[in-house]
Amino acid sequence: MKYPKEYLDEIKTRLKVSTVVSKTVNLKKRGKEYIGLSPFKTEKTPSFTVNDEKEFYHCFSTAEHGNIFDFVMKTQNLKFGEAVRSLANLAGMRPYTFSKEDEIREKKWNNYKSIFNKYVNHYHNELLKNSNSTEAKDYLKNRGLTKEEVQKFKIGFDTNDFNFQENIFREYNENEIKETGLFYFDENKKKYISRFRDRVLFPIKNISGDPIAVGGRVLKDSKYLAKYINSPETLFFKKGSNLFNLDFARKLSNNLNSIFLVEGYMDVIGLSKNKIDNVVANLGTSLTNRQILTLNQFFDEIVICFDGDDSGYKAALRAAENSLIELKPEKKISFLFLPDNHDPDSFVDEKGKEFFLEFSKSNSVSIHKFIYNHYFENMDDSPSSKAIFEKRLRSISSTIKDEFIRKYVLEYFLDKISELSPNTNFKYKKNYTKITKSLKSTQNYYNETKSLKAIDLKEFSFLYILLKKPELIKDNFHLIENVKLFSNENKLLLSEILSQSNNFAITDIENINIDKSLIERVLKYASIKHIMVKNFNDNEKILEILSELIRDLKNYELEIRIEELESRFSEDLSEVTFNELKELKKLQKIN
Ligand code: GTP
Ligand code: MN
Repeated sequence: MKYPKEYLDEIKTRLKVSTVVSKTVNLKKRGKEYIGLSPFKTEKTPSFTVNDEKEFYHCFSTAEHGNIFDFVMKTQNLKFGEAVRSLANLAGMRPYTFSKEDEIREKKWNNYKSIFNKYVNHYHNELLKNSNSTEAKDYLKNRGLTKEEVQKFKIGFDTNDFNFQENIFREYNENEIKETGLFYFDENKKKYISRFRDRVLFPIKNISGDPIAVGGRVLKDSKYLAKYINSPETLFFKKGSNLFNLDFARKLSNNLNSIFLVEGYMDVIGLSKNKIDNVVANLGTSLTNRQILTLNQFFDEIVICFDGDDSGYKAALRAAENSLIELKPEKKISFLFLPDNHDPDSFVDEKGKEFFLEFSKSNSVSIHKFIYNHYFENMDDSPSSKAIFEKRLRSISSTIKDEFIRKYVLEYFLDKISELSPNTNFKYKKNYTKITKSLKSTQNYYNETKSLKAIDLKEFSFLYILLKKPELIKDNFHLIENVKLFSNENKLLLSEILSQSNNFAITDIENINIDKSLIERVLKYASIKHIMVKNFNDNEKILEILSELIRDLKNYELEIRIEELESRFSEDLSEVTFNELKELKKLQKIN
C-alpha cells in the first residue's frame, strides 16, 4: 500500500514543520529558523532546529533529521500510516482509505489535472502568440498589466480553438472532460462548447499549485453577459475551500505574518504588480470557516480588504460574522476599508505600495470592533432597538469556538454596552476607572516591588494604616469589616486586628498579640508608610487614603467576581448570569 505522492505533498504543504513540532516542543524564532530543546534527548541548551522553508527539522545533539512524518513517527512512536492519518487530520484533509473509491478518485484526479494543465497552458500561449488575441492583449495592457504579471499568473485567453478541443476529446473520455467543467454540452447544437470562450482566463490553483478551476472575464462589459464566470464546483474544486493565489502567497509566510484577503482576481494581480504578494482572493463568494482556518495555518493576521463600496461593505460584514467563530487567541483578523469607492487594485495603483501598507497599518480595525461599530451605527435610541442590538452582539459572541476569545469578545461588547446604559451619566463616566486605581503618589512604590501584585501591596497598605492608626478602626468599623482580602496571611491578620481592635488603642505594634511575621510583611511592603510618616497627624488625610484603598480593594473583589461570571456566562449564556453580571458592572462603576 502506497499513499499517492500528491496526497502526502498536500499534507506537507498545508502543515509547516514548525506548526507540527510546536505541538510538543517549545520553539523560538531565530532568523529564518526555529530553535528549541531537543525532544530526543534531555538537554539544557537548545540544539534542535526547524526550518519551514526547507521543510525539515534537525537535532544537532542526536543528528536526528527529517520531515513532519518522521517527526510524528519518532516522537509519538507511530507507524507511517498512523502518522499520515494524524497529520492529514491536523491539516483538515479527509483520510485516505485505500478503498476502491480512492483508487478511482486518484485516477480521476490525474486526468482532471492533466486536462486542466493542457487547457491553461494552451490558452496562455494563445494569448501570448496568437494574432486572434490582440484585443485581449490590448485589454490587459490597458489595465496596466505587463508580460510579467501575465506570465506569473498564467493569464490566458480562450480563443475557442477547435483543434485543441478535438485533441482533448480524442485523448480523454467524455465523462472525464465533463468532470472539469471546462466544456458543457449544448442541447440545441448537440455539441460541447468551451465554457470560457472569448474570455480572459485567470487560472485558480490548489494549494500545491495545480490549476483546478478558472475564472473568465469578458473583454467588454455588457448588459447581457456576466462580467466574470468561474468554474462550476467539481469533484476537485470546492469554492469554499480554495483561495486564488494561495499556492503562491503561503510561501511568503516564513517571512511575513499577515495576509491580505481581497475580493477579486484583479486585486491580487494589481497588488502583486506593486510588489505586495501576500494576497489571496475569495472570488466573490462568501468567506468560509475553512478558508479562515487554512489562512491561519500560515499567517497570524488576516487583513480583509474588500471593495470600498456598499457591496464590499456587506461582504465584509458577512465575512466578519463568519470568521469571528474561528478566531483563536494567537491569531488576529482585521478589516481595512478603502476610501472613495476604491478597490485594492485601484487604490494601490493610484497610491503605490508604501502608501497602501502605511494606510493599512493605521486604518485597519480589529474584527470585534468592526462588528460592534456596525451594529452600533445601525441602532437608534428606542429601547427595542437597543435590546435587539444587545441581543445580537451577545448571540454573535456566543458562536465563538475558542472559550477565551469568546470571553474577551463578550467582555468587550458588554463593556461598550454598559457605557451606553442610561444609569450612567456623563459625570460618572469621567470618574470611572475600571481597574483598581493606584494612588498617584504611591504608584512609584508599587513599581519598585514588582514581584508582588498590585493588589497585595494595597492589602499591605490597608493593614498598615490599621496597625498604625488603630483609633480610626472604631469609627469606621462597618467599612473596614466588609473588606475582603485575597492573601490568606493578610486575611488572618485582618481578622486578628478586628477582633483585638478594642485592646490596642495605643499605637504600639510591639505590644499587640499577633504573629509577628504577619506584621513584619506589612511593615516591609506597605508602600504607604512614607506617606504616613509625612501625614501622621493629619487624620483626615489618612482617612481619605484609607477610603480610597478600601474602594480599590472592593473593586478588585468585583473584578474577580465579574471574571468568574463572565467565563460562566460565555458557556451558559443564561439570563440570570447575565443580569447578575450587569448588576456587578454597575456596582463597579459606582465604587
Ligand atoms: P474588474 O472589473 O475586472 O476590475 O473586476 P474586479 O476584480 O474589481 O471585480 P469585482 O470587484 O467586480 O468583483 C470581485 C470578484 O467577484 C471578481 O474578481 C469575481 O471573482 C467575482 N465576480 C464579479 N462579477 C461577477 C459575475 O458577474 N459573476 C460571478 N460569478 N462572479 C463575479
Ligand atoms: Mn473590485
